[in-house]
Amino acid sequence: MTFTQTHLLGIEPLHPVEIAAVLDLAEDYVALNRAPEKHGQALDGLTQINMFFEASTRTQASFELAGKRLGADVMNMEARTSSLKKGETLIDTAMTLNAMHPDLLVVRHPQSGAVDLLAQKVTCAVLNAGDGRHEHPTQALLDALTIRRAKGRLHRLTVAICGDIAHSRVARSNILLLGKMESRVRLIGPPTLIPAGAAEWGVEVTDDMEEGLKGADVVMMLRLQKERMDGGFIPSEREYYWRFGLDAETLAHAAPDAIVMHPGPMNRGVEIDGLLADDINRSVIQEQVEMGVAVRMAAMDLLARNLRAGRAEERAHA
Ligand code: NCD
Repeated sequence: MTFTQTHLLGIEPLHPVEIAAVLDLAEDYVALNRAPEKHGQALDGLTQINMFFEASTRTQASFELAGKRLGADVMNMEARTSSLKKGETLIDTAMTLNAMHPDLLVVRHPQSGAVDLLAQKVTCAVLNAGDGRHEHPTQALLDALTIRRAKGRLHRLTVAICGDIAHSRVARSNILLLGKMESRVRLIGPPTLIPAGAAEWGVEVTDDMEEGLKGADVVMMLRLQKERMDGGFIPSEREYYWRFGLDAETLAHAAPDAIVMHPGPMNRGVEIDGLLADDINRSVIQEQVEMGVAVRMAAMDLLARNLRAGRAEERAHA
């Protein structure tokens, strides 16, 4: 068994071999998802609860489909409709749900570290679907699968990550993953949107698109995360697009076969030109969404195997 985790809280604790194990299994699920009959049995008899304390379209839908395709009973609990509105704390909510015996708990929360805290209090496998500006591990894994399929490898690539790095858990998880897989990362953005400690992450940092894109194999664009900004980080959206927006002309500075990625939701005309985003010869944005379901199926399958093994061991010792 190469994947030894009991939770998927971030990329940070993962060994490169574990990352490869998730991606390899996800390849099988890509094939299943393209087949006319999309049913696997890996999660049969298990209960999956999705707790989203922050708005989400694609991530929540993706986790829901992933669970259903593998036979889990899936329940979505939205913070909007829950007792959280009545002042119940995160831990109380988690304990209440835990008493219903879920096996997989998928959590998105606006505070960094909230999902780790929750994982310490429950008896099931916890998957982080994004916590504040900390980590978004399944996004980095689906990005890695998309890159590996397009480029045939994950090592010795130059990946440019552009835009609002400071507020982005997607950037953080991708930087960690690409570093572990021995690819080179360049961060491009206005200094106000590059976190203070970035230089110590083993990445190159620049505020010049031409310099940052030079020879890049992968160009990953990020949304301006306005909901996490508490002031003026950019002069105006027009000026931002002029200096940091990606269109076909700017992309010409990257490698001739560079692919364009975006985790979504996109702001067309703010960080990326709509025509480029839709250009199937350069943009892999739709593939990212497809890979998302497969990667989440693989992650939940591997966690469920460890959960079942752990429980069997507990019974043997009881
Ligand atoms: C990202 C997120 O929520 O962190 N979206 C996603 O999961 N696809 C990025 C974003 O919100 O900009």
